[in-house]
Amino acid sequence: MSHAPYPALRLRRSRVAPWSRAMVAETVLSPADLIWPLFVTGGSNNRESIATMPGVERLSVDLLGAAAKEAASLGIPCLALFPNTPASARSEDGAEAANPDNLMCNAIRAIKDSGADIGVLTDVALDPYTSHGHDGLLSEDGRILNDSSVAALVAQSLNQARAGADIIAPSDMMDGRVGIIRAALESEGFHDVQIMAYAAKYASAFYGPFRDAVGSSGYLKGDKKTYQMDYANSDEALREVALDLAEGADSVMVKPGLPYLDIVRRVKERFEVPVFAYQVSGEYAMIEAAVAAGVLDRDKGVVETLTAFKRAGCSGVLTYHARHVARLLG
Ligand code: PBG
Repeated sequence: MSHAPYPALRLRRSRVAPWSRAMVAETVLSPADLIWPLFVTGGSNNRESIATMPGVERLSVDLLGAAAKEAASLGIPCLALFPNTPASARSEDGAEAANPDNLMCNAIRAIKDSGADIGVLTDVALDPYTSHGHDGLLSEDGRILNDSSVAALVAQSLNQARAGADIIAPSDMMDGRVGIIRAALESEGFHDVQIMAYAAKYASAFYGPFRDAVGSSGYLKGDKKTYQMDYANSDEALREVALDLAEGADSVMVKPGLPYLDIVRRVKERFEVPVFAYQVSGEYAMIEAAVAAGVLDRDKGVVETLTAFKRAGCSGVLTYHARHVARLLG
């Protein structure tokens, strides 16, 4: 190339017309890229708003079939379920996580029984079930007990698989859990149940609204820094991903989303596996706050952020805007 390519080369040429921009677009967002997280609550015909997540509701189990069918008809391939466990069912050991009649299992069955052609991804971690709000089990002096936590997570995973979950998504960040969950699934014949590992999950300020949504914020003692990653680190994320893949994860997740696109890119380039990201509750709340303040166009802003995830290397994104965006794209 000559050292002065202009005017022979004018990059604006391909940008001048909409048809041309469409033709050279390197990334295209479609509803198939979206995973829609749903919060599940008790009662019937019950929709509860969540103060910190305007526009998002907790739904009772009987409303899930219709939501699943709507999502499937919009081209959304998968739902992610999160239960708001009643206080009476929360305990030190989070035993409710392994109850075959818990909110999560009833939700899975309701969606599967509705006949909706959609995947069901279930979160594996004890925080919606523990009275202390942590993802694992605590010793008497308040330390996380890694290996007994993993045993509880295995019981939780099998419970979800038996109820019909398609993708088990451990979000707890205990060491060694992916391999042990995989082995348990194999030994019970759940060969086709996938594992999407929350592999690089950071201890983040952006989870606050979610903890309201599942009702665990009032319970949480301390922080999650002894198991979730330090946001200062990036090489460590590659080690986490390598381990989860070696242990049998089918896909991996980076979380939170937008502030962590550098991690998505490194993981994608290094491992060449399906990478997902979670645009988490605090990110959703920030976007909605900006919209409410009149400083952001919701539709344009949301599509831009989701396209950025794809550009960074994501196969898909968990986003509370999934239904809204699928409608827009449709
Ligand atoms: C539970 C879990 C959390 C989220 C997903 N699974 C919260 C946490 O780790 O405290 C956060 C999702 C969001 O903020 O939207 N282990």
